[in-house]
Amino acid sequence: MWVDHFDGRWLVQTQSNRFPEFLKGLAGGVATSIYWRPRDKAASTAPEWVWGEKVTERFLVQENGASFWIDFDSGYSSGIFLDQRLNRRRVGESAKPEQRILNTFAYTGGFSVMAARSGATTTTADLSKTYLNWTWDNFSANGLDSGAHFGVKGDAIEWMQAFAKKGRTFHGIVLDPPTFSRNKKATFSTDNDYADLAGLAASITEPGGWILCCANTHRLHPRQFEKDVVSGIRRKGRVVESVESLPMPSEFHCDDYLKSLWVVVG
Ligand SMILES: C[S@@+](CC[C@H](N)C(=O)[O-])C[C@H]1O[C@@H](n2cnc3c(N)ncnc32)[C@H](O)[C@@H]1O
Repeated sequence: MWVDHFDGRWLVQTQSNRFPEFLKGLAGGVATSIYWRPRDKAASTAPEWVWGEKVTERFLVQENGASFWIDFDSGYSSGIFLDQRLNRRRVGESAKPEQRILNTFAYTGGFSVMAARSGATTTTADLSKTYLNWTWDNFSANGLDSGAHFGVKGDAIEWMQAFAKKGRTFHGIVLDPPTFSRNKKATFSTDNDYADLAGLAASITEPGGWILCCANTHRLHPRQFEKDVVSGIRRKGRVVESVESLPMPSEFHCDDYLKSLWVVVG
């Protein structure tokens, strides 16, 4: 069972198809609403209301001093993946004014918001227009001028290839792809294609810049993931100056499915 606590609204996800009724007894004084979705329901299914106030509109939550819009009606996910909290903070702490930061597979632009709040100029890439618009709403919620930043809709790999061709580089790049993705010409799988993805990112990273490589999969062993990332970057003739493994937030203690590497490229 997973309980995401969004400013008093609980989003409960369960492996079983029955709601764990005991949660209602725990919610008093802590939560205002409980919504629930069994994990195996189609990703596009909105969670159902089970207790407390109904949440009829999207609402803002705060994390690391930043604001993000949450929408329980949006299907797939509700706006931010809470297991990326420390990685978002790291990006916010690392980004500096005058730097260009690229956020690929960006979803609602959480990493872009953190980099932009630190004064960096961000480019946000996602297949979905809806999520790019959500990103701009998150920028507005943080008093950031979206007009001073870039959003590119379409395949993130094709965009990085286009940037490489044009010689456009970035100081920092966030790679957080879905486990599997398909476009008209090719497929991407985290298990098989991460080396190429990391290499492509390295080819547009400034010397001394960083790549945050994330893989959200149980199947890939952390050592294999690091091997893939390092070999992909070296294949492009770039030097790996350092690799740091970043932990998941401590409340995600059941297993470490999210692997995150902070790689500095020479
Ligand atoms: C796992 S989520 C990324 C989460 C995000 N990094 C965050 O921390 O909130 C996957 C995102 O990748 C996008 N996506 C999937 N395939 C893509 C592709 N080939 N190019 C660009 N975006 C893609 C989806 O639309 C979705 O928003």
